[in-house]
Amino acid sequence: MDLIYQSKSTSNLSRILITSGSQELKQIKSTLGSPLRLQTTFKTTSFPICLFLLNYFQKSIMYYSITHIHQKIKEVNMTDASYIFLAGASRGVGKEIAKCLRQQNYKVKALLRQEDSRPELEAMGIEVVMGDALDTVSVERAILTNGSIEAVISTIGGLPKDGQRADYLGNKNLIDAAFKAKVNKFILISSIGSGESVVALPPPALETLKPVLIEKEQAEKYLIASGLTYTIIRPGGLKSEPATGNGILTEDYKVAGTIHRADVAELVCKCLFSDAANNKVLSAVDRGMMYGKTEFEEFSLI
Ligand SMILES: NC(=O)c1ccc[n+]([C@@H]2O[C@H](COP(=O)([O-])OP(=O)(O)OC[C@H]3O[C@@H](n4cnc5c(N)ncnc54)[C@H](OP(=O)(O)O)[C@@H]3O)[C@@H](O)[C@H]2O)c1
Repeated sequence: MDLIYQSKSTSNLSRILITSGSQELKQIKSTLGSPLRLQTTFKTTSFPICLFLLNYFQKSIMYYSITHIHQKIKEVNMTDASYIFLAGASRGVGKEIAKCLRQQNYKVKALLRQEDSRPELEAMGIEVVMGDALDTVSVERAILTNGSIEAVISTIGGLPKDGQRADYLGNKNLIDAAFKAKVNKFILISSIGSGESVVALPPPALETLKPVLIEKEQAEKYLIASGLTYTIIRPGGLKSEPATGNGILTEDYKVAGTIHRADVAELVCKCLFSDAANNKVLSAVDRGMMYGKTEFEEFSLI
């Protein structure tokens, strides 16, 4: 049982740490910020003892689980040092993710193949690198040079009119470079209808989406076999409307529905530092816009 107990005394913010022996005490202290006066550290693995100690100090205001602290530590370390690499930021879900990451102050490097959206992204404080995801050399240069990359997010997709489809080969290049760069996580935006979630879509939709879904599935399989820590998010039908806040994730591959791009982005940002999301394949829909099956288990990121 690991708990951090925080109390506000009259003058000073003080905290009492009750831990089963975390090695990251120093980091925890700096993560939780100053003024921090660590009054006492107790080591215990016993829940009753934790409760006894908490009651003893009788000033319960806030508790942090160690999982929460670890997540915070990762976020703090990350913001200081490295980039989130984003492919697909020019529009759609990718652009929404760019906004979400910047709102949280993450350093973002975006791969663009056209200059059009460059000024807008740069105005948001994003570092832009030009290159086509289908070109291995550009992808490697973008990911392996000028600063370390904590995680890669790819929303690469599009229509045939946008040029040669990059759903598989573009993502494959990104995954290979991410592996070389030893990034900590790769988040791939795929689609409901890919892999076993083929059962979630009606035959006419499958027929239309078949060429895309074949590539999405190839990219998913390549990522899973890559050895990288991954999260695969399969959104339902996308709409470009404001976030509803009702976007949910589920491991239930039979679920189908619609979701707004801004809600997908919010879920992606939450997955970034969630260990629960590691090596998971999750469908993303809006709980208010589901088709057919509405009984399912929601995936918790905590
Ligand atoms: N539309 C749907 O209903 C739906 C449903 C489920 C899943 N999805 C998937 O969800 C993701 C996001 O979809 P969306 O509609 O929001 O975005 P989108 O409009 O499909 O945008 C795709 C992004 O990928 C980039 N891209 C494509 N090929 C590239 C290449 N060779 N090199 C570099 N960048 C490349 C595009 O850049 P450019 O601006 O240069 O073209 C664009 O930024 C896609 O993977 C899509 O397949 C879509």
